[in-house]
Amino acid sequence: MNHTHCPITNLSSDFDPLDLSDPFPLLAQARREQPVFYSPAIDYWVVTRYEDVKAIFRDHETYTAANTISPIVPFSAAVQEMLAVGDYTPEPVLSNNVPPSHTRIRALVNRLFSPRRMKSFAPAIREIAERGVGRISKRAPADIVAELTYEYPAYVLFHVLGVPAADVPQVKAWAGNRIKLYYGRPTADEQIEMTRNLVPFWRYVVKLVAEKERAPQDDLTSDLIRLRAGDDAVLTLNEIASCMITLLVAGHETTTAQINNALLHLLTERAHWEALCGAPERIPGALEEMMRYDPSVCAWRRLAVKASRINGVEIPAGANLLLMLHSANRDEAVFPEPDEIVMERGNLKEQLAFGYGIHYCVGAPLARLEMAILLETLARKLPGLRLVDGQELAYTRNISFRGPVALRVTW
Ligand code: HEM
Repeated sequence: MNHTHCPITNLSSDFDPLDLSDPFPLLAQARREQPVFYSPAIDYWVVTRYEDVKAIFRDHETYTAANTISPIVPFSAAVQEMLAVGDYTPEPVLSNNVPPSHTRIRALVNRLFSPRRMKSFAPAIREIAERGVGRISKRAPADIVAELTYEYPAYVLFHVLGVPAADVPQVKAWAGNRIKLYYGRPTADEQIEMTRNLVPFWRYVVKLVAEKERAPQDDLTSDLIRLRAGDDAVLTLNEIASCMITLLVAGHETTTAQINNALLHLLTERAHWEALCGAPERIPGALEEMMRYDPSVCAWRRLAVKASRINGVEIPAGANLLLMLHSANRDEAVFPEPDEIVMERGNLKEQLAFGYGIHYCVGAPLARLEMAILLETLARKLPGLRLVDGQELAYTRNISFRGPVALRVTW
């Protein structure tokens, strides 16, 4: 098919990229009928099949990650002025960076998340999980998001990064604001208001890095400062602050939503939950299937820097691509009976919830560890956990982050 002249099709016009409430039927249709289609709503080419998504991730020279944190609604002149005045200077370091700078920085950040380092944090993470589950277990029914899963990944992340736990509510609010500003569709006035909240977030991070430089501690921020060893050729302080603001956004909303998706499905088909309560050693494997079935980063972006063809469709240089990870993960060519939850799939390590290739989620070891610890704690302390009947699920309007906003449970 050649879409050079008019790329708009029925799928293009039916697809609302910000509506994440029930995306799967349209994506299944796209995989069958038109696996690559254009979305005029956001001016992105939407890629739905597993092999195409993976090939794009693999070819990072044709498809760079430069657009992964570009605002969907470009910043107005007023916003740009506010950022300049506010000395807002984060630079591409990880998710939206390209080699060779990405290669240099990523090699250093990889060392922070080594299996040994992660293991050293396990006892502290267990304590955070015990405390959270202990608190919620006092009153049923409860919204488990508001009472537990919204905060838990933030407390874990703050502990490992060495950020004071008392700052969790403020930083969560800033991070949520940043996600809406970049991934949502704010009006001009909302964009200005959100920017007003973005500048103090950056200042907070810059101050944090300066404090750790003065007095390094046993945390990942200090690890990065130690790796720099005062040498700007290794890593500048502005790059460290840019890494920190990235981690402080990437490292908790994603995990909150992934835990919510996992709990929703395990408790909807409750036999799975009961099986895990009886055999908690299966929880890590079950989490992989949950990530395949309903990944919290449901779509991720790439920028085509040269003209190419994807599945027969001509993609012009400069085109934006939206890679539908939740569609790739339900591609029947790779995962038979994709709409079923099957815990023992032989090829679960092929699932794409953490991306693939040079930008593969650097926080995956931490995410896997903290999710498993929380589910183990819940299975042990609240095996009677169940969903409150008849609740309607709500999802925030944005293009990338999918998870129910609230989840009412009882036990
Ligand atoms: C279940 C939770 C999580 C999910 C589903 C998730 C998913 C993803 C995805 C899809 C990517 C893009 C990969 C690509 O472009 O190929 C990514 C990148 C990234 N993630 Fe995660 N993530 C999670 C948790 C975390 C945590 C806990 C952290 C930090 C502590 C983190 C930090 C990052 C960073 C810094 C990148 C950019 C890496 C790079 O470009 O080199 N993520 N993640």
